[in-house]
Amino acid sequence: MTPEEVTPLLALGSIALFVIGLKRLSKVRTARSGNALMASGMLLAIVITLIEVGLVDYRWIAGGLLVGAGIGYAIVARAQATQMPEIVARFNGFGGAASALVALSLFWSEVVEPAGDDTAFAVLGGASAATLVLSILIGSVTLSGSLIAELKLRGTISGSPRIPVRGVLMGLFALGGLALGGVAVFAIDDPITAAALVVGLVVAAVVTGLMLVLPIGGADMPVVISLLNSLSGLAAAATGFALSNQLLIIAGTIVGAAGLILTQIMCVAMNRSLVNVLIGGYGGVAAEHGEYEGVVSADAESAAMVLEAAQSVIIVPGYGLAAARAQNAVHDVAKALQAQGCHVRFGIHPVAGRMPGHMNVVLSEAEVPYELLFEMSEINQDFSQTDAVIVVGANDVVNPAANTDPTSPIAGMPILDAASARRVFVIKRSLSPGYAGIKNALFEQDNTVMLYGDAKEVLDQLASELSSA
Ligand code: TAP
Repeated sequence: MTPEEVTPLLALGSIALFVIGLKRLSKVRTARSGNALMASGMLLAIVITLIEVGLVDYRWIAGGLLVGAGIGYAIVARAQATQMPEIVARFNGFGGAASALVALSLFWSEVVEPAGDDTAFAVLGGASAATLVLSILIGSVTLSGSLIAELKLRGTISGSPRIPVRGVLMGLFALGGLALGGVAVFAIDDPITAAALVVGLVVAAVVTGLMLVLPIGGADMPVVISLLNSLSGLAAAATGFALSNQLLIIAGTIVGAAGLILTQIMCVAMNRSLVNVLIGGYGGVAAEHGEYEGVVSADAESAAMVLEAAQSVIIVPGYGLAAARAQNAVHDVAKALQAQGCHVRFGIHPVAGRMPGHMNVVLSEAEVPYELLFEMSEINQDFSQTDAVIVVGANDVVNPAANTDPTSPIAGMPILDAASARRVFVIKRSLSPGYAGIKNALFEQDNTVMLYGDAKEVLDQLASELSSA
């Protein structure tokens, strides 16, 4: 077989790896191998594309792979587990940037550098010229939006500044960018002027991305993170059209579609409409943290005495579990409770933590059996018949204000109904608020007992008390 005959087959193999990998990602049990399959598909796609394009020889391919893999490894190897959501946001941004850079380099190498007196439209054709503009626009929005998301997740940027008539302004910048790009590729035959307009397109897109994410707070962050993930795929698909590269079109479309489905899932989870999230009403303003009254606290020893008598326990993990790296400790508590005949389950809120699937990732690291993990919709009706709930470093996802306070930043977000259990133990270090920055009336309830401390330390104590009982 000639290389021309082999590469389409390899491309088909790469697409199959993407599709099968994505399917496997939808279940916690198979997600790890799904991730590996998709990474192999991507490696194959890079190699095929470089061979097809014939731009570089094998030494460049090997060198590029080594440098890229080295940078990726260095970023992830040094990261704490709690930094994973920020890194995922950054990688979304890098995806958008890569697409925009490829489109920009196409524009440079085909239109600006040859310095002829043809428009990009005349040189590249209409479809390629139009998708080149889209790729630069969407890629640059994704880059700036994702970097802001990273800084917000890291806490470097706090608060959610209000931008008056933000929806209108964003529309103006996005359409203005499109207009600049359109004129640059379809109407201008002077390459320097066209290049200057393309710079204007990039600036307008970067500002759009900033305005998209900067005011996001409260309950809407998960929606926008999923949307950025989808945009990174759409940018790649647009670049694929600009380059007439089918593999990139398919891979980008898969990422874009999967991201859109995730965005929809997040919208349902947060009870938000995407339009509402996109053009206004983002997040809401955090109310006063509020003073607490009548909060009861106890130590691990007395909590263990209550838990020893419990027939059923639901554990609700949240961001604090990941922050404390307490996944093994919570598994030990679950095992100690099971050893005394207690029915133990975990209730997982779709936006618990700081990235989609965060709790599933953390708990699977500690090999908590998948059968013990239940989604909110599967377990919410059971809380009222449960002897005890242990809330571990979760706050917003169990905050009744979502149902009771229409002005709350999390208003309307479905929550885990922990408050209705017979006894609620809340493990956290203080009465500080969670991500949405609001008071949680659950802590004041008569049936709630606070176990103050770092989640890992408190859970270790609980596990040893329960095991020695
Ligand atoms: P949060 O509401 O953020 O609450 C986490 C709690 O963990 C805090 O109140 C904190 O209280 C406690 N904590 C922190 N470190 C701890 C430690 N070492 N030991 C014990 N407790 C610790 O978390 P949640 O309930 O998981 O809700 C998630 C929130 O993040 C939602 O508002 C969601 O919209 C938002 N968000 C989610 C995502 C995704 S995609 N999942 C992305 C961005 C934002 P102390 O300081 O008192 O310990």
